[in-house]
Amino acid sequence: MSTETVEKQAIPPGFENAHAGPEEYRRLYAESIEDPEGFWRREGQRLDWIKPYTKVKNTDFTFGQVSIKWFEDGVLNACVNCVDRHLETRGDQTAIIFEPDDPAAEAQHITYNQLSDNVNRMANVLLSQGVMRGDRVVIYLPMIPEAAYAMLACARIGAIHSIVFAGFSPDALSNRINDSGAKVVITADTAPRGGRRTGLKSNTDAALLHCSDKVRCLVVKHTGDQTTWVEGRDVDVKEQMKHVSPDCPARPVNAEDPLFVLYTSGSTGKPKGVVHSTGGYLVFAAMTHEYVFDYKDGDVFWCTADVGWVTGHSYIIYGPLANGATTVMFEGVPTWPDAGRFWEVCAKHKVNQFYTAPTAIRALMAKGTGFVEKHDLSSLRLLGTVGEPINPEAWNWYNDNVGKGKCPIVDTWWQTETGGHMITPLPGATETKPGSATVPFFGVKPAVLDPTTAEVIEGNPAEGVLCIADSWPGQMRTVWGDHQRFMETYFQQYPGYYFTGDGCRRDEDGYYWITGRVDDVINVSGHRMGTAEVESALVAHQKVAEAAVVGYPHPVKGQGIYAYVTLMNGVEPTDELRAELEKWVRTEIGPIAKPDLIQWAPGMPKTRSGKIMRRILRKIAENDYGALGDISTLAEPEVVDDLIENRMNRG
Ligand code: WT7
Repeated sequence: MSTETVEKQAIPPGFENAHAGPEEYRRLYAESIEDPEGFWRREGQRLDWIKPYTKVKNTDFTFGQVSIKWFEDGVLNACVNCVDRHLETRGDQTAIIFEPDDPAAEAQHITYNQLSDNVNRMANVLLSQGVMRGDRVVIYLPMIPEAAYAMLACARIGAIHSIVFAGFSPDALSNRINDSGAKVVITADTAPRGGRRTGLKSNTDAALLHCSDKVRCLVVKHTGDQTTWVEGRDVDVKEQMKHVSPDCPARPVNAEDPLFVLYTSGSTGKPKGVVHSTGGYLVFAAMTHEYVFDYKDGDVFWCTADVGWVTGHSYIIYGPLANGATTVMFEGVPTWPDAGRFWEVCAKHKVNQFYTAPTAIRALMAKGTGFVEKHDLSSLRLLGTVGEPINPEAWNWYNDNVGKGKCPIVDTWWQTETGGHMITPLPGATETKPGSATVPFFGVKPAVLDPTTAEVIEGNPAEGVLCIADSWPGQMRTVWGDHQRFMETYFQQYPGYYFTGDGCRRDEDGYYWITGRVDDVINVSGHRMGTAEVESALVAHQKVAEAAVVGYPHPVKGQGIYAYVTLMNGVEPTDELRAELEKWVRTEIGPIAKPDLIQWAPGMPKTRSGKIMRRILRKIAENDYGALGDISTLAEPEVVDDLIENRMNRG
């Protein structure tokens, strides 16, 4: 994409009194970089501390001794910051608007008082199950208020939650329960989504077959659907909540105590448990939520992500609630009962800030503007996107039809690892360019490095890999149980820097354009997928000898999953087998990992040392096989002709 030709979009009127204007952004950004201690010492005060911190920043990016600590001698409680401290001033204000999957069902408006009652009760239920400070609790719930209660209840008693997206399979669930060493898993009977139901309890039953029999299963009876019940192991949460006290003292924790672990895919190996701290994370989530969305008291904020992803952690729960906001939790999907659901919900709840993913915008764009026009979107003041680069067509459609040209669009670049927004416009301060995440947030020091020399490229324009030169409070602290892996993944390749895994370009104006992952991670509908994970699921099938997975451009998902599969000797490649393998991956990992295209590959392009040349597979999958580059080092160059001949993506 050529960036030179993209024109800057002026800041729309109405943002003159935003939290930061252009001058303020420059001043605060400069301060945050020149004096991080002073800057964050002040910003940390947006939270209530039980024991105030005296130390602010203590961080080291040196490979072998990476250590990240913020506000390290401070003591606080995240739940108190998201709930208790609002009770006096806004106890009767709605904290959470719950919009159920079924549009005919009534929405729930949960006030801060009611939130407090439920969270305290849930916390007491956890205590009664023997959950203690530092224990892990896996949450496998749909987008229902109980998910918020469970997160905050863990925070209240100092337990560490680990949410597993409800779309993941029993296998993925058991792996995460085991890796985190969770004592308890919280699930629901079934999860309605788009008019269909997923059996979360039956998935959990299947998962628990592979876990310690000490793991307790707390079940939220959400739909009332029939499930199996294991006496002595399964607990009816809602029933228990009725019988416990609505008061549970909040456990003071250290700023550096983990608030949660969230598993995410990398280029190699099993998903990593990304560990986030209590103090630094919450400061960063709250601050970014306020500035990036220009959140003001009384606003209704809607982030359409699932709480199973970091976006849901930071911008449905922790950021908004720390700021005393009204946050929308939507159980459904954008296209059911029709492609107007998002806009219907925006109109119904008078949403002021709306935050979604480019893939959703593209899916809705394909259904035409009629679905948008039917609804009154005049409450919208700001739009946001996250998850992948947004293509200019989708940006323009969003801007023209949803924002009516009046709402700034914040294209927020960040990662599970970063805890919150890193490169993003501020609505009152930054002129935008469609497709660019624009400029760094306060305290964030991006650097573009040369991937071959690992040297910093100064000046503009610059193109290379995106690193971050210094720590920020929301940064992940470690990989759960594997600090070595943390250091190797993020700090080894580019010494002294945090390596993001993304490529980027910085243009003449200093604006950043994310060009996508430079590792073997693909981005499917804004969700991160390790190709290695899909490959290991495929080779676990008895008929598969070898598999190689790459991404290819997909009109709605951003990237689709393209799998090359070599079958065991004598196995017939049939369409039935293809369907069987698709189903296999769905059950091994979850529906999001299902390959879009499977090509039978009698042979793989390998170097003489046996390494699969993914560059070639990527080109063929992209239908760009004219430019394969040098294939002379291949052990059997002729396999390439067969792969081209039988390629699946001829789009
Ligand atoms: C990867 C992180 C935390 C956000 C949800 C995804 C890509 C994210 C953007 C954006 C271009 C983006 C990057 C990043 N990404 N936002 N605005 N523009 N690319 O979190 O699963 O941890 O994935 O998503 O490639 O590395 P994640």
